[in-house]
Amino acid sequence: KDWKGYKNGLVRLTPGPWIFPKTFLDFADKYFKFKFRPSDVVIATYPKCGTTWTQEIVWTMRNNPDLNNPKASLPVLVKSPFLEMDSLNSDPFPDASPSSDDANPFLEPFKILCSGRNPKDGICVQMAECTPDPRTIKTHLPFSLLPSLMLDTSKVVYVARNPKDMLVSYHHHCRLIKMHGYVGSLEDFIQYFVDDDLLYGTYAEHLKEAWERRNHPNFHIMFYEDMKADIIGELKRLDAFLGTKLTLQQLDNVARHTSFKEMKKREEITLGMGTGDKIFNQEVTKKDGGFFRKGETGDWRNKLSPELAAKVDAWVEKNMKNISADFKYSI
Ligand code: A3P
Repeated sequence: KDWKGYKNGLVRLTPGPWIFPKTFLDFADKYFKFKFRPSDVVIATYPKCGTTWTQEIVWTMRNNPDLNNPKASLPVLVKSPFLEMDSLNSDPFPDASPSSDDANPFLEPFKILCSGRNPKDGICVQMAECTPDPRTIKTHLPFSLLPSLMLDTSKVVYVARNPKDMLVSYHHHCRLIKMHGYVGSLEDFIQYFVDDDLLYGTYAEHLKEAWERRNHPNFHIMFYEDMKADIIGELKRLDAFLGTKLTLQQLDNVARHTSFKEMKKREEITLGMGTGDKIFNQEVTKKDGGFFRKGETGDWRNKLSPELAAKVDAWVEKNMKNISADFKYSI
């Protein structure tokens, strides 16, 4: 399928329900063999389920609960590397640099961390390798594509979100980020979803692989809607899971620092590559917002027609009935 504008073309890995840009194949071996460490916390999600929020939360809990760590102003991709980002495009920062890697300020932390390494071997995966402990690593890869991620050794925080808000957010993201270059309507996008043809494959299988692990002591699952409804309650559970032993004051600091309002204010800093014309489609930004778009539960009601909502409901009923997670569509 042409996937309405996706620049590099997508491939379906067989066997399995996973879909990636062709460039994934250049890096897949590095991900399969990636060496996770006991002190790692891996934030694993299907796209648009609250990954960035959770990265900032977990990093802040582990590194900056008193809000006085100067490293807090590094881009989130440096504080919490995105393992497979290189494979989303053969050059993950295509337009950030007008002429050469040297001109791209985003690569400075990479150079410091990975001196002597070749960016062409994968900037993001090498950044993950070079990040000092304790690492907070982001991935959208499902468990079955990360055989080296053993719950016996590393902790995983998995974040899920109701499929309707996820889809509205994912559609926005693919139009916003020039690297994706998606130009289709939400209706088309939902058709790709129900046909299991979206980038990263089917959400049902992704969540199922996580859900099967939900009772493992090194696995923690959170729902975006629960975080929206009671962030302090969720932070307390996360604190117990991570063993960070934060005070109520520190949890309160984390909640404030990572609130939608505060993270939206820091959008440029957080994203590192900026939000300019080279990275974002400015027409989409003007009309529908940037990366930190709405940050709400239930916005799907403003975007999905009753027919489209029913189409997603039918898909969820058919494909997710073996998962006993109850999605909340409003709070
Ligand atoms: P919306 O597009 O619905 O606003 P991800 O980080 O997995 O890509 O998810 C992005 C979604 O999380 C976006 O949803 C974004 O606005 C939302 N988000 C990011 N930071 C948030 C925060 N601090 N609080 C609530 N939602 C947040």
